[in-house]
Amino acid sequence: MARLKPRVVFYNLWPEFRALARRQLPGCTTRFVAAPLDLNNADRRAQVVGVFIDSRITAKILARLPRLAALATLSTGFDHIDLPACQKRRVVVMNVPSYGENTVAEHTFALILGLTRKLFESVKRVKEGRYDFVGLRGVDLKDKTLGIIGTGRIGSHVAQIARGFGLRVIAYDPHPNRALSRELNFTYISLPALLKQSDIITLHSPLTPQTHHLLNAKNLKLLKRGAYLINTARGALVDPAALYAALQSGALAGAGLDVLEDENLIQHFESVMQCSDCQLKTTLLNNLIIDHPHTIVTPHNAFNSTEALARIVHTTVENIRKFLPGRPQNVVGK
Ligand code: NAI
Repeated sequence: MARLKPRVVFYNLWPEFRALARRQLPGCTTRFVAAPLDLNNADRRAQVVGVFIDSRITAKILARLPRLAALATLSTGFDHIDLPACQKRRVVVMNVPSYGENTVAEHTFALILGLTRKLFESVKRVKEGRYDFVGLRGVDLKDKTLGIIGTGRIGSHVAQIARGFGLRVIAYDPHPNRALSRELNFTYISLPALLKQSDIITLHSPLTPQTHHLLNAKNLKLLKRGAYLINTARGALVDPAALYAALQSGALAGAGLDVLEDENLIQHFESVMQCSDCQLKTTLLNNLIIDHPHTIVTPHNAFNSTEALARIVHTTVENIRKFLPGRPQNVVGK
């Protein structure tokens, strides 16, 4: 394949990284499409495709890419890719396993502090010309309990930062890392116990069929009243109807969310018009959650630091470079 000058097509790659990608793939014909991959812009001659999470890779899209041999996603998560469909067509899928555990963990604390210190109401008030702190009382983090769900790369970095704030850390993970819990001085407990004890709960587990609506109407009932929920992992880990109900009842004092279920439908009126009743309901719930006075929602932006993007592009280009001579790395769904 290396001898054939393979055609590599990047969809929606950040423009400032195009020159670097082209330079680092000298033996390839490199093309850039300034939009996510969809049925209309699929390049039939592409042998390798680079996509971000805004491209939904379905069997239908794959059918429009008859020469595709590899798919490199510029992300850690790969729930936007139909892996069985890729396997069926023998398309190798590669991801970026780690590029920004600190980046996402830092954003997690931006959301925690934004909520607990009423940062956005405070800034808004001053900008509107009112300089007083009535109604803006926050809560300390010191001596509060932080419940981390998923102690992989990002979750463990969150545990590390939490020590600096004097937070007590508890965690739930079906695959506990005992050495890590000793090193960072936190305890593993069950999910229900974590929900009961935490002042702040933060999600860092992947979205899989097993973790879909991991937090739901049944277990959100266990929350300590007035807890905060942070989600920088994937929106569908939380049932949006249960989340909205918990915010309305005051069971949750606030939610800091970088991700929402079916978030790809929020911006695009056309895709909302084509979506199922179920997705339409989620989209309506998302709007209620976004508009709720006790939420901070960022647009899936936790990964988005200058340093993290450079690391993502670097690893993706390396993934492609290694794939071409038949030594693929970071392959998912093997
Ligand atoms: P990781 O694979 O290092 O860690 C995930 C952890 O979750 C593992 O320890 C795993 O055992 C645990 N886990 C699996 N099933 C679980 C369950 N049922 N309950 C609780 N824990 C469970 O992944 P990493 O790098 O820490 O990333 C976590 C997630 O963060 C990714 O899957 C991705 O969806 C999301 N993410 C979001 C970004 C953003 O911009 N908002 C950027 C990067 C990742």
